[in-house]
Amino acid sequence: MNYDILKEHWLIACSSKTLGTKPYACEILSTPIVLFRNQEKITALLDRCPHRNAPLSRGKIINGGLECPYHGWQFDTNGECQKIPGLCNKVTAKSRDATRFEVIECQGFVWIKLSASTHEIYQPPLLENKNYHSFIWQAEVSASLVNILENFLDGTHTHFVHSGLIRREGERQEVRAAITRGSDRVEIRYTGEGKQSGFISKWFERSRRESYGRFILPSVAEIEYCSDSGSELTITAYITSTSDAHHKIYAVISIKQGIIPGVIKQWLLTPFFRKALKQDIEILELQQKTIEQFGKETFISTETDLIRPHIESLLHGNNKKIEKTITVML
Ligand code: FES
Ligand SMILES: [Fe+2]
Repeated sequence: MNYDILKEHWLIACSSKTLGTKPYACEILSTPIVLFRNQEKITALLDRCPHRNAPLSRGKIINGGLECPYHGWQFDTNGECQKIPGLCNKVTAKSRDATRFEVIECQGFVWIKLSASTHEIYQPPLLENKNYHSFIWQAEVSASLVNILENFLDGTHTHFVHSGLIRREGERQEVRAAITRGSDRVEIRYTGEGKQSGFISKWFERSRRESYGRFILPSVAEIEYCSDSGSELTITAYITSTSDAHHKIYAVISIKQGIIPGVIKQWLLTPFFRKALKQDIEILELQQKTIEQFGKETFISTETDLIRPHIESLLHGNNKKIEKTITVML
């Protein structure tokens, strides 16, 4: 499913660390792109030389611009063709230029926007807060965007996919879920859950006052767990569609500093988080494979599938405001 809205928003192309001194090839919304960095800035061009369509990402950075590996055409940071080896006339025709995209670097990532718009980048709420320790995780999943977003924000799979780790079937609690949808996001506030029944919550979490699941356009999923003294753990996952069925996930995780420093908590929790992530990737890729075997999705939903309809509506550009509360057993 192609959501046009994604083209108008900033999407992460790679982490800042990934883009070194060589050209870097990536794909965003099925569009091959080459990134390169010179002393002054980062440039993003369509990864196809206008001459004979060789991939520019296989070329070299020369004089701060990019040289195609095939016949040596050179492009500057505006994508303008500056040199055609062997051509006696001046290089002027626009048709010889490479297509350029908007690019910026912030929060430790390189972001690209395929179409012009005024949208801004959503900031992880606790990234700059000194009382929290923040770090980044990356993953790749062969599944559709909405299925990944739903998985990240859904509580009802945790008893099965993460049995014992996050929750446990047979130890459900009645939880109130207050849904608030605005023009660019939907938030679900869960209350009534003292602790989750799984291992992670029992060993690492204080009593839970409330938790939040949020979807923010274009493709951000966020979960936040709060005790009486505020946010304990927030995960903001930025999801980039490389193609309809393949995604890169860049998660910013912020853990509260306390008697145990955040970095120690990160170290202690990492094996369990990794396990949960692996379990999610496995089930998402199995789901994707089954959908592909049958040629399409044929989903039946109930009221416990809280977030998906709102994610789909927002991605389709429906900005109706909605507020409602329901009770579920989690
Ligand atoms: S294909 Fe790039 S210079 Fe010929
Ligand atoms: Fe999960």
